Amino acid sequence: MKDNRSIYFDNAATSWPKPEEVYEAAGKVLRYSGSNPGRSAHTRSIQAERIVFEARERAASFLGAEFPEEIIFTLNATDSLNMAIKGVLEQGDHVIYTSMEHNSVLRPLGSQKEGGGITTTMVSPDADGFLEVEKVAEAIKPETKMIICTHASNIIGSIMPAAAIANLAKEKDIVFLLDAAQTAGSLPLNLQKIRPHLAAFTGHKSLLGPPGVGLLYVCKGLHIKPWREGGTGSSSEEERQPQLMPDYLEAGTMNTPGLAGLNEGIKFIQEQGVSTIRQHDLYLLNMLREGLKKIEGTTVYGSDDTSSSVAVVSFTVEGMDSGELGYILEEVYGILCRTGLHCAPQAHRTIGTFPQGTVRFSPGYFNTEEEVEYVLESLRKITVSFK
Ligand SMILES: Cc1ncc(COP(=O)(O)O)c(C=O)c1O
Repeated sequence: MKDNRSIYFDNAATSWPKPEEVYEAAGKVLRYSGSNPGRSAHTRSIQAERIVFEARERAASFLGAEFPEEIIFTLNATDSLNMAIKGVLEQGDHVIYTSMEHNSVLRPLGSQKEGGGITTTMVSPDADGFLEVEKVAEAIKPETKMIICTHASNIIGSIMPAAAIANLAKEKDIVFLLDAAQTAGSLPLNLQKIRPHLAAFTGHKSLLGPPGVGLLYVCKGLHIKPWREGGTGSSSEEERQPQLMPDYLEAGTMNTPGLAGLNEGIKFIQEQGVSTIRQHDLYLLNMLREGLKKIEGTTVYGSDDTSSSVAVVSFTVEGMDSGELGYILEEVYGILCRTGLHCAPQAHRTIGTFPQGTVRFSPGYFNTEEEVEYVLESLRKITVSFK
């Protein structure tokens, strides 16, 4: 359901609208099920367990995990990243990360660094967001325990060389954590092809699910410390967390309405086909980039080679504050987008837009060509009246 008063161009923050089935599935669970999965032996608890099971099976097969129990349900990508970072790192470890990382990576690393716990090296791509794997290789030290890389920038959309970094990490026996918050659902993604040790996903962006559900892929055989322990409904006699996956990392009541919604979101993507979604995204992205570049005074960031980019475009207008521009876009034209630093300050340093930030448009599968034309025309009017 879309309301016709606004144009939603903020899908990189969270996708909207969701497929109708997502609303229906989540509402149905809340209204009619209301049971705790895997805790009780009654029918509704078993039905709730089935929701978790189905969502896990579907997510695992969609993302290309070898085993369903490699998929751990979390709250969001931030939760998954924290779980991975804090579950692996120990005093004295060294971590390599890129300047395109989100604060959900930068801040957990920052807190782990406090008091000399760990050391880090940041590697930067070029201003178009493209990273040379050699730079990552050069940063490796004997004590390097982990490499962290976003799969695609949430500011300029550039896709990072995930499989090449995964190979390098394997060769050097280093844990590779991939942040796939911006790619799952909008890019063909197969974990068995990329082969990271850990990968963080979020349900509410391009997987088209509701907020409150994230996923962490933990490659079979990799041991990480749980950062939350408690009830699982299994081995209740034990004082310690059951060692069996996924229970080991999934303490507490699961978000069954969210998981039912996520299951439908992924199902919708499977039915449409990721390549159809990708084609649609690229079409709108190219239209946006081309149109923005023709507007006087506008600087568009990132590469024009959109085949290596997800549907995110950042720009500035000479002499205009990005926040103010975002405000006018909504107040006068009903266009919803995101402005500022987008929780990725180092990425803005890399592209040269720190501290003022940019305006970010991120169209999604439900946006149309007409909407892109309206957005471009609105921006033209704003820049003309600003002169
Ligand atoms: C690259 C990246 N990583 C992590 C996150 C955090 O995602 P979540 O809001 O699901 O925790 C985001 C969200 O914007 C992101 O773009």
